[in-house]
Amino acid sequence: MTKQQLLEQIKSDIEQQNICPELAEQANNLVMGDGNPDADIVFIGEAPGKNEDDQGLPFVGAAGKFLNEMLATVDLVRSDIYITNIVKYRPPNNRDPKPEEKRAFWPFLVRQLRIIEPKIIVTLGRHSMEYFLPDAKISLVHGQPKRITTGDDTWVVLPLYHPAAALYNPGQRQTLLDDFSSIPSILKQIN
Ligand code: URA
Repeated sequence: MTKQQLLEQIKSDIEQQNICPELAEQANNLVMGDGNPDADIVFIGEAPGKNEDDQGLPFVGAAGKFLNEMLATVDLVRSDIYITNIVKYRPPNNRDPKPEEKRAFWPFLVRQLRIIEPKIIVTLGRHSMEYFLPDAKISLVHGQPKRITTGDDTWVVLPLYHPAAALYNPGQRQTLLDDFSSIPSILKQIN
């Protein structure tokens, strides 16, 4: 099977295993991810919003537009990277994902990462960070790459602020832009 086929298998497993049925019932789409399955970088957000739920694609609203602008500052486009979320259905009224929802989707995120095998995992916001760096506080660790081992997996994780939060907070916006600018040198070091 190709990487794309393996990723599609995860989608049908989530549907067949009836993961988070209350979320599934009110969502229009299961938003799995988008981009290049051979990417060096995987970005992980929180959960789909309204635009993402309507289109079935991650980060296509205002936060996604800002993310695209930040990618351009480091000479990347969306087709260079892979992007997904920890929770794959839109929570009602864009509420925060619940701990049990994040826990339910975590094994499927791990499967995505094992297929793509990125060099860096960039977490956007605290919801996707907490499973990789459970004791970290985002205000203290943002922009600092960490090599972590969980079970059989060793990953380099770069925790960043969430672009939606940074959009409306000028201080965080500049911090996010500064942190983003370090991505090429982190990749170079890993290579
Ligand atoms: N915010 C997220 O965390 N994920 C999306 O897909 C869109 C907005």
